[in-house]
Amino acid sequence: MVRVCFVCLGNICRSPTAEGVMASLLMSAGLRDAVALDSAGTGGWHQGERPDKRSQAAAKRRGITLPGTAQKFTASHFDRYDYVVAMDKSNRENLLRLARTEDDRAKISLLRSFDPESEANADVPDPYYGSGDGFERVLDICEAGCVGLLAHLRDEHSI
Ligand code: 4NP
Repeated sequence: MVRVCFVCLGNICRSPTAEGVMASLLMSAGLRDAVALDSAGTGGWHQGERPDKRSQAAAKRRGITLPGTAQKFTASHFDRYDYVVAMDKSNRENLLRLARTEDDRAKISLLRSFDPESEANADVPDPYYGSGDGFERVLDICEAGCVGLLAHLRDEHSI
């Protein structure tokens, strides 16, 4: 089984959205059991909380349920995953600081790097302090990134 963790700052908006979108894509492809999914934040302020209500509502409008409760990503989390997928460059920097080995570092990527339509090094913008449509945009971006990530996993792992 391939193990993927999506990582943002708070683990209540972007990374649970990516996790829910990816679960939905895997389900549609009949591959839900081939990939284990998780998400985490590099900050710990929201640990134990369910995803932001605005993220949940936007996802629900697309038939997607957001999973889990927020957790903080720590160095030992690298041992649990094959792919650690950051939502933005700041999250990636935080993860690179936590990485203990070259193996850890090699697991880190940016979600939008899997979207062939995206510019290099593009971020999933943080919707937390913005207006409501930021959450729709996060969903659109996560869908494009996760479609690309799924294609990558299928190629790399023969699933
Ligand atoms: P996320 O959004 O990183 O997409 O979960 C945020 C959620 C909370 C905060 C920042 C970003 N915060 O500062 O509390």
